[in-house]
Amino acid sequence: MYKLIKAKPVHAKQIIPYLTITCYWKEFAEGNKLNQSYEDFMLQWVVNDRLPFTTVLVKEGDEDTIYGCIIAATTEQLGTMPDYTPHVHSRVMEVFAPWFQFPVSDGVVVELFAVAKELRGKGYGAKLYQVAEDLAKKEGKNCISAFVWACFPDSLITFTRRGFMVTDCIHFPDPVGIPLLYMQRSPQHLETKDFFQSKEYLNAKNMLLS
Ligand SMILES: CC(C)(COP(=O)(O)OP(=O)(O)OC[C@H]1O[C@@H](n2cnc3c(N)ncnc32)[C@H](O)[C@@H]1OP(=O)(O)O)[C@@H](O)C(=O)NCCC(=O)NCCS
Repeated sequence: MYKLIKAKPVHAKQIIPYLTITCYWKEFAEGNKLNQSYEDFMLQWVVNDRLPFTTVLVKEGDEDTIYGCIIAATTEQLGTMPDYTPHVHSRVMEVFAPWFQFPVSDGVVVELFAVAKELRGKGYGAKLYQVAEDLAKKEGKNCISAFVWACFPDSLITFTRRGFMVTDCIHFPDPVGIPLLYMQRSPQHLETKDFFQSKEYLNAKNMLLS
């Protein structure tokens, strides 16, 4: 049996591989101006301060080994995280500038969402995702958003089944060939889900001309 618990310091190093498989973190750290190893860079600038916003999947009876994790926090909470951008290589800033400068909507942001390969497709991702919804409810936020690389179909399915809509797409220069989708779940986006089947749309005339 598996269960969700709040992340603890013993989990910090194990969270790094989950970040690695979902993003370009490895590249962010390469050539960093502090000459830190990938692991040291990730612990100091990303993982340690996010532990209070991280929930992990563990086995009953062994809470020290993780099998999945989600990092979900409000935009205010993320605003208090250490800024690693002054320390990354100038080429990293150049390539990922459109992402670093992207105006994320106020609300809850899912920064990491991943389950160990052998446990995928068994409902654990859905359980982890619920953490983001619970946080949104607790904090009174009606928008949840996430950046999802277009090459992650399972993640896209999970989010779209929960009412997320792709509202933007960021393209990067070579060698980053994969588009990054910005997805949001908000009442306004949920309303548009059935828009083309609604009486309002079917009865509308001269929508563009009036
Ligand atoms: C995305 C990920 C976290 C989902 O975790 P999971 O444990 O496999 O997800 P679940 O088994 O809980 O499935 C979640 C939902 O998506 C659906 N789903 C997931 N993958 C699917 C697939 N390949 N085909 C059809 N439906 C799928 C499930 O039916 C389920 O829907 P429901 O709860 O509405 O019935 C997991 O696949 C993963 O770690 N993928 C690799 C990393 C990744 O893509 N991370 C996200 C980067 S942004």
